[in-house]
Amino acid sequence: MGRRNENSTTVGGMIERCAQELERGGVYCGHGTDNVIDEAASLVCAVAGLEHAAAASDPQAFYARALTKDVAVAIDAMLRQRIEQRLPLPYLLKEAWFAGLSFYVDERVLVPRSPFAELIAAQFEPWLDPPSVRRILDIGTGSGCIAIALAQAFPGSQVVAVDLMPDALDVARINVARHGVEDCVELVQSDLFDQVAGTFDLIVSNPPYVPEGELDELPPEYSHEPNVALLSGADGLDSSRRILQDAARYLTDDGVLAIEVGDRAVRLDAAFSRLGFIWLEFESGGEGVALLSAAQLRAEF
Ligand SMILES: C[S@@+](CC[C@H](N)C(=O)[O-])C[C@H]1O[C@@H](n2cnc3c(N)ncnc32)[C@H](O)[C@@H]1O
Repeated sequence: MGRRNENSTTVGGMIERCAQELERGGVYCGHGTDNVIDEAASLVCAVAGLEHAAAASDPQAFYARALTKDVAVAIDAMLRQRIEQRLPLPYLLKEAWFAGLSFYVDERVLVPRSPFAELIAAQFEPWLDPPSVRRILDIGTGSGCIAIALAQAFPGSQVVAVDLMPDALDVARINVARHGVEDCVELVQSDLFDQVAGTFDLIVSNPPYVPEGELDELPPEYSHEPNVALLSGADGLDSSRRILQDAARYLTDDGVLAIEVGDRAVRLDAAFSRLGFIWLEFESGGEGVALLSAAQLRAEF
């Protein structure tokens, strides 16, 4: 690691130095942040036990705060792991933020980063009438972030959250308990719809969508995430195709399917051109999220 400058014993100085080292280390930011400054601020604040949001009220005082030697040493150790092992920061902190909520994460689950957060904050309006949403299905729940955020955004609804991997469901269970939503989020081990019963007003899925041959082309940070959370067949669309084909049977008449396929959107759209996907745009970034009504799906499948 680089030499500590005299300013790096303050919060601001430490953030600056960490950002420089992250830049020099060539890390990829995309697992919770999208630039080295934010990444450094998350690291420093988490290790120092500070809320970065507190900087807004008095930035000068916040960034001038002195760090103890122990904290500075702990920050250095984590910075080293981040750079040398290219571990995504949330795995080191055992925490990721999604839709304004904190989630426990480790290498059993994908690091939450779906643009679904923005749709959840808007309660899927104008696509859904929020008070009429009673049952929601989250396919491929991973850490449970989407299911739990949905349960909070739609009070009174019941959310079924499925995942193929028992390991992922163990992490989701930690988060269900952390947010006290045991009564409204049911975790089910299922291969997509296999163990699912009944109909839903909203089906949400962020399935794996990386083509099998393309994993090696991704930054090393991705290699720490479970393969099953990323890969889905030769063109990345195996899971998405199955979800599209089966979803109609699990939707209420006014129900909506929201599916994320990232940069696979063009290919999926071409493969099912008659479906008439509605592709959404997001203020805070992200792409490749489509909405389909039960009627659209029933017309095709
Ligand atoms: C891209 S991750 C999404 C995780 C979480 N929903 C999120 O947005 O952070 C995909 C998830 O789907 C799960 N998965 C993969 N194949 C599946 C299948 N056939 N049935 C159910 N879940 C599956 C993976 O285990 C993983 O947790």
